[in-house]
Amino acid sequence: MIDAVSEAYSRRAAEYTELFGSMGAVHPSDRQLVSTWADGVDGQVIDAGCGPGHWTNFLAERGLEARGIDLVPEFIARARSAYPGVSFEVGSLNTLDVETGTVGGVLSWYSLIHHDPSTIGIPLQEFNRVLRPGGMLLLGFFESPAIEGFAHAMAAAYRWPVSDLTEELTSAGFDVIETHTRTTTDQRPHAAIIARRASAE
Ligand SMILES: C[S@@+](CC[C@H](N)C(=O)[O-])C[C@H]1O[C@@H](n2cnc3c(N)ncnc32)[C@H](O)[C@@H]1O
Repeated sequence: MIDAVSEAYSRRAAEYTELFGSMGAVHPSDRQLVSTWADGVDGQVIDAGCGPGHWTNFLAERGLEARGIDLVPEFIARARSAYPGVSFEVGSLNTLDVETGTVGGVLSWYSLIHHDPSTIGIPLQEFNRVLRPGGMLLLGFFESPAIEGFAHAMAAAYRWPVSDLTEELTSAGFDVIETHTRTTTDQRPHAAIIARRASAE
């Protein structure tokens, strides 16, 4: 599955960047949500599955030490060229090359949509591992009343109920702090969850 995702985004990196790879393409309420979340992050922030890097740059412009990571070398090359002052690297969300407990925030904005539901716990546990206790995760995803696959333009993807992802996050060691949903007539329903790495007792 990872190979199919990587191959599809590699092939269409230019098209994706043109359509979605700028803050102008972002819904104003998403921009507001990420801004507010980012203002509460203390320390380094990872943009996990950064694609063309516009969110990474947005976080860096807000004064955060931001680092974008993505599977697709074409995205990382484009991000480095567009935002030369920002840090980007190729990597997998399932095995982040990041020290345990060192990160203040992880933004995973639609980057887990292609994970099979049986494997989504792997990157969630990885996010939990790299966050310091109290570190914050912001997860954006497509929402639906039941977990269901759909034919996303790039590769097979999944929509999730907020309640099921909340369970996955809890199993991975997070406390869910806030949930948001947005339904409009012209777009798939969207959702976001803010979760904090639980302190080890
Ligand atoms: C829908 S795009 C979102 C990109 C960006 N976050 C945005 O909001 O435009 C999904 C991104 O996640 C990346 N991705 C998916 N699975 C990944 C994995 N296992 N490891 C690293 N990146 C992954 C893809 O390469 C792609 O850039």
